[in-house]
Amino acid sequence: MIESLVIYIAPEIKEPDRGFALNLKQALDLESTSDNEPSDSKRAVFEYADGILCLHLLLDNKPTSLSFDFDDGEVGYRARRVSKSNELVARALGVKPNYRPKVLDATAGMGRDSLIMAMLGCNVVMYERQVAIHALLANALERFKLSGHNQQVAERLFLAQNDSKEFVKGAEGFDVIYLDPMFPERKKSALVKKEMRLFKMLAGEDKDADELLLGALQSPVPRIVVKRPKGAPVLANKKPSHEIVAKKFRYDVYLNS
Ligand SMILES: C[S@@+](CC[C@H](N)C(=O)[O-])C[C@H]1O[C@@H](n2cnc3c(N)ncnc32)[C@H](O)[C@@H]1O
Repeated sequence: MIESLVIYIAPEIKEPDRGFALNLKQALDLESTSDNEPSDSKRAVFEYADGILCLHLLLDNKPTSLSFDFDDGEVGYRARRVSKSNELVARALGVKPNYRPKVLDATAGMGRDSLIMAMLGCNVVMYERQVAIHALLANALERFKLSGHNQQVAERLFLAQNDSKEFVKGAEGFDVIYLDPMFPERKKSALVKKEMRLFKMLAGEDKDADELLLGALQSPVPRIVVKRPKGAPVLANKKPSHEIVAKKFRYDVYLNS
């Protein structure tokens, strides 16, 4: 598990990257380091280059970097193909032709699910508690907004850095609370596996996920959706109102009347 975050600001780095890096250093009270390679597996190093924030870590003693992007790779592909019929999440959220629920994504992570929900037309408030993941996500969101590739979608996404456990209990003005906590035995492709391992190095295993669901069920929000890997037990031993099952995961839907 990562225990310390530092930042590398290369001597030759130009504006605006230098300004971004100095702001992040101040906001997160980071120490500077003279090298962008982490000295051990408990330390991670932020670096800005060309507007992209990345985090350098050691995975199995090998240097590796993590950055998030809303336009690239699997996320961009899935988002570009988004439609009600190919996204089970639309069913889980209760999206209808003239109804787009307002969603609180209380476990934002890389923001992939939030992006899909925004592509479906939902306004999404994302909460992420882990500071490094939040910083990477904020940078991806900023770049997505600046790219102008999909301004309408970008404007539906809002991000906060906080633990959502308390917030969910009194959350008002939302139609859905969406939860996708980490699960110890997620099995995915090699690439995602690596991503998930990096994620776990930063965020741990979300052992308080039961509490998050119990808090959400106390809220006035009428629908709670929990994404679970195939075969994973329900959270907090609470039986959902119904399930929507996909090949590798399922949505547990709680109608919170
Ligand atoms: C499996 S990831 C979510 C992935 C996300 N659905 C996506 O599409 O990228 C879980 C994330 O939720 C965050 N998290 C877990 N519990 C949280 C809480 N109570 N408040 C805020 N963030 C939380 C973790 O730090 C982690 O980044």
